[in-house]
Formats: sequence, structure tokens, C-alpha cells
Amino acid sequence: MTAYAPDALIREDIAAYLAQHESKSLLRFITCGSVDDGKSTLIGRLLYDSKQIFEDQLSALEADSRRVGTQGQNIDFALLVDGLAAEREQGITIDVAYRFFATEKRKFIVADTPGHEQYTRNMVTGASTADLAVILVDARKGVLTQTRRHSYLAHLIGIRNIVLAVNKMDLVGYDKGTFDRIRLAYRAFASEIGITDFAAIPVSGLGGDNIAAPSEAMDWYTGPTLIEHLETVPVDADREARGAFRLPVQWVNRPDLDFRGFAGTIASGTVKPGDAVRIVPSGRTTQVARIVAPGGDLAQAQAGQSVTLTLADEVDCSRGDMIAAAGDPPEVADQFEATVVWMADEPMLPGRSYALQLGTQSASATLRTPKYQVNVNTLEETAARTLELNAIGVVTLALDRPVVFAPYEQSRELGGFILIDKATNATVAAGMIRFSLRRAQNVHRQHLDVTREKRADLKNQKPAVLWFTGLSGAGKSTIANLVDKKLVRMNRHTFLLDGDNVRHGLNRDLGFTDADRVENIRRIGEVARLMTDAGLIVLTAFISPFRAERDMVRQMLAPGEFVEVHVDTSLAAAEARDVKGLYAKARSGALKNFTGIDSPYEAPEAPEIRIDTAVEDAEAAADRIVAWLLEREG
Ligand code: ADX
Repeated sequence: MTAYAPDALIREDIAAYLAQHESKSLLRFITCGSVDDGKSTLIGRLLYDSKQIFEDQLSALEADSRRVGTQGQNIDFALLVDGLAAEREQGITIDVAYRFFATEKRKFIVADTPGHEQYTRNMVTGASTADLAVILVDARKGVLTQTRRHSYLAHLIGIRNIVLAVNKMDLVGYDKGTFDRIRLAYRAFASEIGITDFAAIPVSGLGGDNIAAPSEAMDWYTGPTLIEHLETVPVDADREARGAFRLPVQWVNRPDLDFRGFAGTIASGTVKPGDAVRIVPSGRTTQVARIVAPGGDLAQAQAGQSVTLTLADEVDCSRGDMIAAAGDPPEVADQFEATVVWMADEPMLPGRSYALQLGTQSASATLRTPKYQVNVNTLEETAARTLELNAIGVVTLALDRPVVFAPYEQSRELGGFILIDKATNATVAAGMIRFSLRRAQNVHRQHLDVTREKRADLKNQKPAVLWFTGLSGAGKSTIANLVDKKLVRMNRHTFLLDGDNVRHGLNRDLGFTDADRVENIRRIGEVARLMTDAGLIVLTAFISPFRAERDMVRQMLAPGEFVEVHVDTSLAAAEARDVKGLYAKARSGALKNFTGIDSPYEAPEAPEIRIDTAVEDAEAAADRIVAWLLEREG
């Protein structure tokens, strides 16, 4: 099968191929539509008419078309692009496939993305770098729910050139009235979602009408063919060249003591030697000395080009910083409102800390409960507590450090980010910054004259958080209580936070869904941190079933202050004891989401202290923990 698919070209071939056409501008586009709209046939036709199919692929294709019984001289172009065997059997396109072709005027990368709703994440992936979207509709069916969904997503992801390709015109007798009706219906919808401009082209992928050559059967259409349009539409790089200068620094090139170059791809604007620039976030200003390139210094460079700059002064500037026009620097913030497309099977957990990657910058981000979710079919905004796979929602994010950004509307480079699960390293979401929250600029930390060290000294102790984790009924509270009593007897200042108690007060609004447990632990973490600032030794007894949140609390505290104590009791033993009768309830189905039964417990991988309750009783365990603490105090 792969013999037909130009995307089976290996990476170097693609690079070599693009290099051949280097002087031409590049247009990236996506095609949206479903199998039934004739999408594969249309793409096959584009590749064929631009003569980019290799000879041997073509003869194989002709042979295969005969075998599947395509009539006449028409080659079945769908066979050309439906690369995967499974796809052909199921008749659906299941992944993003990139294909390359070129004409006299331009080179193209087309991302072929699946049309079904469950593939929203693939479409977003394919669309994120595209300049243009071809929205395909079947002339017999007109504007459908999926047409709206594709258009909404394409617009959301920042594509400003939309082509409405009304396909299968041959099946409606090349009728102008049909085409006009569809064009007008689409215009009404498009304006609702902010698409102000689009090109409508009547085509037939099968016959090639208005693809590369004007259609004789549709002489009433006087606009450009699809290829002409693709060849002449302005690309993003041109638009971004007009913005203010921004170079996200990818790496600092320092081969010897004399040379220090800052390398990266210009995100927007143009730059010349002598231009005044500002390093963000530090704010230092200087001038560009040279624009170094392999073939010799450049007099000017613009958006899209990869360059190395040298600066007139020795200023601090490292990876993740940005070199920007001195008079028009970008914003910096640590709290945002953003639109997020959820791409993971596991739903979003408000309160969990994810890794955020925004261009060359990274940070930790926690999301709040979504403000709303958008139904991609009806575009209705509905309430949501979380976001599931393929859901799109508007959320606020809090980062652990400020980043340089621009609203996505203004710059895809500086406004687009991804979120990564810290444990699995999988990308879980793509996001688009709408705006920064004013709060980020107006709420500052207040300096305290009495330091945390002073408070701890007064109490003659080293603050710590003894974080007991384990199944319900494992013995966390029992052991924590004993440790607490022993420490107080030794004149230590302590405080015990216990799950069942805190859930009656501070956290009485929380239940036992994954999201609520995450929030439960986040709040306990914050409270424990405040208590260590006050100089206390804090003991916490919460199931705290997720590694991610326990690690988050570890990160929140001063180094060495988080002491994870795993009270390791087997499920069988905890269930056999069943002090509160909750396991019996959970088994009978009367209690949902019970840890160990129908909700997970992720045991610590490297706890500071592990207590195996099968071999050590509570008294002995408590003594061992106290001894560990005394040892630590030195
Ligand atoms: S955590 O998972 O969010 O850390 P937490 O320690 O605060 O849980 O609360 C656990 C206690 O709540 C248990 O010891 C038990 O008494 C009670 N409980 C009630 N419902 C559940 C449930 N579905 N799962 C676990 N514990 C529950």
C-alpha cells in the first residue's frame, strides 16, 4: 500500500525536495471534509495535476484502479491518498497525513485531516501550522453540521484563508443555482463565527473541473481555479513580517569567548543591524550588531527566517528569553484566559499541574474549572466541570512563572501552547491564549519582615510536612496521631490536618471525583505550606491517591521539607478491617468512586518512609518516624 503514498517519503527526501524549490514561497493548508465529500479524490487530483506523482506510483495506481473496477479513463484518485490498508477497508481516514507538491509558483504542504468529530484532535494538530483551509462540501448535500464544525475549528486555530470547495458539481449537472445557494448559506454561517472572507469555488475532483484548469462545463464561473487560488493567496509569513520584531531565543551560540550569538526563528517583524532591541523579561536594552547567516552576514531578516543575532552589549539573555523591538516589547504575564482543546483520553483535572510549552518557554500550569465548554456542532456554550477528549473549553491558567506572550489572535507563535502530562510526557492539550488576566499584573507578593526562619528559630525546630498517604483504613490517622502526641511531648510545635476533619470545614464543598481529590490535595498543600512558613511541623493524613499532586506539594514546599510517609496496607487487609464500613458499602455499589475499589490509588515510588503495617504496629511505626525526624534535625 505504502508504494502509492507520497508521504511514505522519508524525511531527508522531503528536505531535499523542499530545497529544490527553495526560492518559492511555501503554503501550508489543510483539507477538511469526510470521505463522502470526495476529499481523497480531490487531494489525489491536486497531486496528479501538479505532476507530482512518481511514475511508478502512477502505474501501480492504474493497475489497482482497474482491479477495483473504476471505469473509463478516470483513475481512482482516492486510492492514491488513502494510504493505510485499514483505512481503505473501513472507508475512513484516521490520521493526519502530510503531502508535498509544487507548481511553477509555489510549493505546498497539505495536511489531510479526518473529518469525524472524534478526530477533532487530529484536525487541530494538522491545522495548527496551516495558512489556509479547504472546506469541502458535497454539492448534493450543501452545508452540513460537519462543515460548521470544520470551519469553526479552522477559524479557532487561527487560519484566516478559507476556501469553500463545492465538490461533485458533476453530480448536480454543474448547476450554478445549486452553487450559489450553498455559497450564500455558508456566508450566513461564516459571518456568525467571525469568518469575514472566504473564496467559494465549484469543483469536481473526479473530472478535474476548476482544480488546475478552468471547467468548460461551468463557464458561468469566472474566478480562479483551486490551484490558482492556492498559488496566489497571501501566506502567514508575509503577514507576520509586518508585526513588531520578536525573536524567541532557542539557544545561545558561544563557540569561543569572543562570539556570543542568539539563535532562533523570527516569530514576527523584521530586523536590521543597528536596531534597538529589548531583552524580555529582563528589560535590558541594546542594539543588534550583526545578523549572522551561513552564507555571510545579512542586511535584514524577517519573520520565518532562522538567524543568529549578535548584540552590541554584553547582556544576559538565554534560552526562553525573547529579543524584541525596544519600543514595542511583548507582554509578560503568569495568568491567562485561554481556549483549550483537550487531546488526551484522560479528562482534564482542574488543579493538577501540567507542563506548559509556549514556543521556547516552559512553565508549570494549573487550570481552573472551565468557564464553559463549546459544543463544536451547535457552537453552544455549556457549563462543564472538566474537559474530555476532543472537548473545547475556555479556562483560566495560572503559571509558576511569567512568560512572554501575545494573544493568539495576533500571533500563533507567541499565543499558542501545549500542555504535557508530567508523568507520561504525553501532550494532553493544545491551547490558545485569549488575554492575560489583570490580576497577574495587580497582585504582587508582599514582603514580610519576620521571616519563616525567624519563626522556626523561635520554636527551636525545623519545619516539615509529614505527608501520610495510603488507602482508606490503612492506619494513616492512627499513626499520625501517635507521632503528633510524641512530638508534642518533646515540646515540638505541630499541627495535624486529617482528611475526615478538613472535609467537614475548608473542603466541605469537595467530593471524591478525581477532580475533587486533586483540588482537596492542592488546598491541603497550600495550607501545609503556610504552616511551615509559620515554623510548624505539619502532619497530614489524606489518601492523596495521585502521584502528580503529591509531587506538586513536594515542589511547593522548601527543599527537604516534604516527608512522604507511605502507610502501606494491602487492599485485602484494609477491607478486612473496614473500620467505617465503607468498603462494604463500596462493594455493594452504594458508595461510588471508592479508592481501591472503583477509583485508583497510585503508591509512592520512593517515599522517605514506608510503613508495612503487616509487620510493624502503629506504636513502632510512630517511634521510627520520630527517630527519623530527630536524625534530620541533627
Ligand atoms: S482524598 O482521596 O481526597 O485524599 P481524603 O483522605 O480527603 O481523600 O478522604 C478520605 C476519607 O473520606 C476516607 O478515609 C473515608 O473515610 C471517606 N470517604 C468517603 N467516601 C470516600 C470515597 N469514595 N473514597 C475514599 N474515601 C471516602
